Amino acid sequence: MRRLVRETHLEPSQFVLPLFVCPGEGIRKPISSMPGHAQLSVDQLVRECEEVHSLGVGGVILFGIPDTKDEEASEAYADDGITQRAIRAVKSALPELLVMTDVCNCEYTSHGHCGKVVGNQIDNDATLEWLAKSAVSHARAGADMVAPSDMMDGRVAAIRTALDFAGFENTPIFAYAAKFASVFYGPFREAAESTPQFGDRRSYQMDPANGREAMHEMELDLEEGADLLMVKPAMPYLDLIRMARDRFDVPIGAYQVSGEFSMIHAAAQNGWIELERAMLESLTSIRRAGASVILTYFAKDAARVLA
Ligand code: PBG
Repeated sequence: MRRLVRETHLEPSQFVLPLFVCPGEGIRKPISSMPGHAQLSVDQLVRECEEVHSLGVGGVILFGIPDTKDEEASEAYADDGITQRAIRAVKSALPELLVMTDVCNCEYTSHGHCGKVVGNQIDNDATLEWLAKSAVSHARAGADMVAPSDMMDGRVAAIRTALDFAGFENTPIFAYAAKFASVFYGPFREAAESTPQFGDRRSYQMDPANGREAMHEMELDLEEGADLLMVKPAMPYLDLIRMARDRFDVPIGAYQVSGEFSMIHAAAQNGWIELERAMLESLTSIRRAGASVILTYFAKDAARVLA
């Protein structure tokens, strides 16, 4: 009876699993704050993706952790960069698996900021060039979709133009459109080694207090050519997922970020909460709020439970 009248359903095909890829071979370096997750070398990443694919998960999003970082984020857009090598390996082993990439610079800059730093400011427009080059290099390596997460103004238009010019008219853009300057990214920054060395990201990421501004950011990204729009984090911003769903007729995604995942695990480890039920309830809430795509570190575990 409950199943018959249930309004919201979870499908593994709606989940996207974030994965961290690092240089080397045979490496699975556990991320202490994110149980079950590890930095993976390319060979291990391919094995992980085989499992993801066999569980019917909708796709993966790749984050690269480069060998060397510099002021210019050089490895972000190098054709033989870590992410580009990872895309090629995964797509050649598993052509059917949807591979998207996070387009950002913070994992690749020595200072850990998402943009080019001049003095103590972010140079928005100079950063657009790096982002456009990264997106094109990902598409050239075989990425099915690119997801810019930097929050520079004008990046969607810059990436769209560059992709089209390079012949990748069919590569869609999944814009991290409403991305907040959130404390819930803490564990990710350990995982991706991308903590800013000075200051914070508040000059480019959004103030958690501003919902109307989030709708404005989403409208701009749509006008610039975004194909899917994302709200990030997910659980503290369910109201904005709902607003976006009611307002825009493109697929709405939500990113259940590292801190959301780690909090549930930490509580479960203490015996304060039931892990499986908390996982399913959190994902169901995000779906109910209106997200049709969920980026989540629970993707594999949830797919197993739902099978
Ligand atoms: C890169 C990026 C971040 C996340 C996704 N892409 C970190 C940040 O903005 O500091 C966070 C994801 C998570 O916490 O799971 N800019």
